[in-house]
Amino acid sequence: MKFEKHYGRLLGVLIGVAACFVYARSILVPKDFGKLGHFRASAIDEIKALPVQHVGADKCKDCHNYEYEQWSGPKSLHKQKVKCEACHGPGGHHIAKMNGEPIEEDPRRDLKVPDSMVVCSRCHLKLTGRPEGQPMLADLNKHMTEPDGTKKEKCVSCHNPHTQSVYP
Ligand code: HEC
Ligand code: HEC
Ligand code: HEC
Ligand code: HEC
Repeated sequence: MKFEKHYGRLLGVLIGVAACFVYARSILVPKDFGKLGHFRASAIDEIKALPVQHVGADKCKDCHNYEYEQWSGPKSLHKQKVKCEACHGPGGHHIAKMNGEPIEEDPRRDLKVPDSMVVCSRCHLKLTGRPEGQPMLADLNKHMTEPDGTKKEKCVSCHNPHTQSVYP
């Protein structure tokens, strides 16, 4: 065997790499990793400490009674399945601010009047793979045109956003 000593060196290198890996891992992997599963156990407490973002439709009722009544009324075609925050975004920051609680200003989290073309299209444009029974608009252009040929700009030109019913 002419190359025997090479095998010895190769083995040495492999053992060296393995030792480095074990050492580096012992330094880099946090102490509580793997205690409860393939994650840091303390991550649970950290996430629990974050402020709540989604608060639920009932929390909007006191201040937006008009919208709430329409949304929860018998005419609502969504039958309350699509909640306020699905269209308006998480309301935790907005409510804290409106209640005058001391919070960090963050304009991205302020609730604004949304563009119906954006929010409604998210669920009602035709896409393959959407659940059966979810109403989808195959021809948006045609749908947005009145029978007499007038083109409308937005979904809310014809639909009430909070009952979805078509305006008389
Ligand atoms: C403590 C009272 C209060 C609660 C609770 C509240 N809001 Fe508001 N909201 C307001 C006030 C006051 C305004 C007007 C603020 C302004 O014009 O700057 C407003 C404005 C809005 C607007 C923007 C309207 C506009 O004209 O710019 C939206 C959308 C909205 N709220 C949605 C919600 C939703 C969704 C919830 C529940 C998650 C909610 N609000 C809960 C008081 C509240
Ligand atoms: C299906 C989507 C959707 C849901 C669900 C929804 N909204 Fe809206 N909301 C809209 C759209 C779109 C507008 C903007 C209407 C427009 O352009 O005139 C709007 C407007 C508003 C406004 C501003 C009204 C104004 O005239 O300034 C408030 C306040 C509001 N919504 C509160 C709520 C509350 C409270 C709920 C739950 C009870 C809710 N919305 C549920 C889509 C929705
Ligand atoms: C989060 C997804 C979602 C958003 C956003 C959404 N919808 Fe819907 N919509 C649905 C689903 C799901 C149904 C079917 C409800 C059912 O089966 O009871 C529906 C039903 C409807 C219907 C009734 C269809 C029928 O004939 O029964 C209309 C009209 C409608 N939506 C209009 C709107 C308008 C207008 C907006 C925007 C203001 C909007 N939707 C935003 C999911 C959504
Ligand atoms: C020109 C007026 C007009 C505009 C604009 C309009 N719609 Fe409609 N929409 C209607 C009418 C009228 C109906 C009910 C008649 C029918 O069943 O086809 C309807 C029905 C629907 C339905 C139920 C369809 C079904 O198959 O059951 C959905 C979902 C819907 N609209 C979503 C939207 C969305 C999303 C937008 C904006 C992208 C929008 N509409 C814009 C007039 C309009």
